[in-house]
Amino acid sequence: MVTAMMKPLSRVLWLGCVLVFCFQVLVPCGLPGACGLDNGLAMTPTMGWLHWERFMCNVNCQEEPDSCISEKLFLQIAEIMASDGWKDVGYEYICIDDCWMAPERDSKGRLQADPKRFPGGIRHLANYVHSKGLKLGIYADVGNKTCAGFPGSFGYYDIDAQTFADWGVDLLKFDGCYCDSIQHLAEGYKQMSLALNRTGRSIVYSCEWPLYMWPIFKPNYTEIREYCNHWRNFADIYDSWQSIRNTLDWTSSNQKIIVPVAGPGGWNDPDMLVIGNFGLSRDQQITQMALWAIMAAPLLMSNDLRHISPEAKALLQDKDVIAINQDRLGKQGYRLRKENNFEVWERPLLNLAWAVAIVNLQEIGGPRSYTISVTSLGRGLACNPDCLITELLPEKRKLGFYEWTSKDKKYKTVRQCNTVHCNQTWTALPATSTDY
Ligand SMILES: *[C@@H]1O[C@H](CO)[C@@H](O)[C@H](O)[C@H]1NC(C)=O
Ligand SMILES: *[C@@H]1O[C@H](CO)[C@@H](O)[C@H](O)[C@H]1NC(C)=O
Ligand SMILES: *[C@@H]1O[C@H](CO)[C@@H](O)[C@H](O)[C@H]1NC(C)=O
Ligand SMILES: *[C@@H]1O[C@H](CO)[C@@H](O)[C@H](O)[C@H]1NC(C)=O
Repeated sequence: MVTAMMKPLSRVLWLGCVLVFCFQVLVPCGLPGACGLDNGLAMTPTMGWLHWERFMCNVNCQEEPDSCISEKLFLQIAEIMASDGWKDVGYEYICIDDCWMAPERDSKGRLQADPKRFPGGIRHLANYVHSKGLKLGIYADVGNKTCAGFPGSFGYYDIDAQTFADWGVDLLKFDGCYCDSIQHLAEGYKQMSLALNRTGRSIVYSCEWPLYMWPIFKPNYTEIREYCNHWRNFADIYDSWQSIRNTLDWTSSNQKIIVPVAGPGGWNDPDMLVIGNFGLSRDQQITQMALWAIMAAPLLMSNDLRHISPEAKALLQDKDVIAINQDRLGKQGYRLRKENNFEVWERPLLNLAWAVAIVNLQEIGGPRSYTISVTSLGRGLACNPDCLITELLPEKRKLGFYEWTSKDKKYKTVRQCNTVHCNQTWTALPATSTDY
């Protein structure tokens, strides 16, 4: 028997059922084919680290040896992921983004790592990463060039898939720059998926197919799910609150289309966690972590694990919030309500539990109160007939036992319950404060 999680923004709550016979049948896929890409991977959202947002395409190792894209960076981050608790809480994939390649393919048409910046080569790096109990991700592009202008995979899908498999790569992020038609884009993403499968190696396939399709027409997510383990829908994330907000707004605006398609083996990818960098206040970092958990998003950090504050580290390693993200029911959450510059998001979890996030989006003033009736959560089921509520963020504390006793099921505050926490007002922190 279990409880669910639920939190309001900058408050995250977990609502668990307290009945002895809480049960839920797990049906990983309803209809044939609905299971998506059949490679047995990403049954919960991928967790790891990806270099792009923090390190971008820095190839200047002469002047910036500690932050250029080189094997040294990945060896150091891998070492820290294994030794500093990251691996223990689930961050497993250390992923290379653009700018790892040499400007030309080798004489046999294979991609090669830049020889100065990756003198040991990718296979050597993969071996080290594997020796730490971690997995290695790499990057390529469906078109004629990568976004930064390195060799693209168009015309080389099989060779590149085989090269990655030979090196011991475990994840491929496949970008969509320099692709001249929607047909080439769709065919390319499918061809690479099949090519990866033919190598026989288990390689998580991270796509940007819908992102590049949206400007032209609405992507067919059923089809995308058949070929990809996760897929980017929206613009690259930046280290800013505006970027986080834009991503959340896009996601809630399109939730009718994208939420139903997510599930074990295939996830919507709102892009990297930027927690631990420069642009977000403490409350904003909490908000990103909470909402990425509600959205069942891949948790790919892009930060410098060699220099990260204890607060950011504790937030990123918060086991309760990670447990929501990794919940094995595999249902993505959605925005339930938007009013008065507050948003309430909720996500169904295993064992009839729910996670709730309440976000205060007002960018003026101080903390504001928000009162919510438990009868309005979890489609009216989360606390029917009763539930335990635990706040997880910004601080973990038990809010206690709640009963669903209101006769009017709509937006009524619970009137009776056996703890003083009944009818409690949660204060949401202003998402914009910069007290950190
Ligand atoms: C390749 O696809 C088949 C069926 O679609 C699946 O059974 C197999 O596990 C896949 N192999 C890999 C390595 O992904
Ligand atoms: C790559 O470039 C060739 C030659 O210009 C062109 O024919 C082909 O369509 C391009 N492919 C993509 C995916 O843009
Ligand atoms: C979307 O793709 C699926 C699976 O490939 C297909 O069955 C379906 O007809 C497509 N839907 C549309 C609207 O094209
Ligand atoms: C709950 O709060 C409402 C509004 O503040 C109040 O009218 C009501 O009496 C409270 N109920 C309990 C049980 O405290």
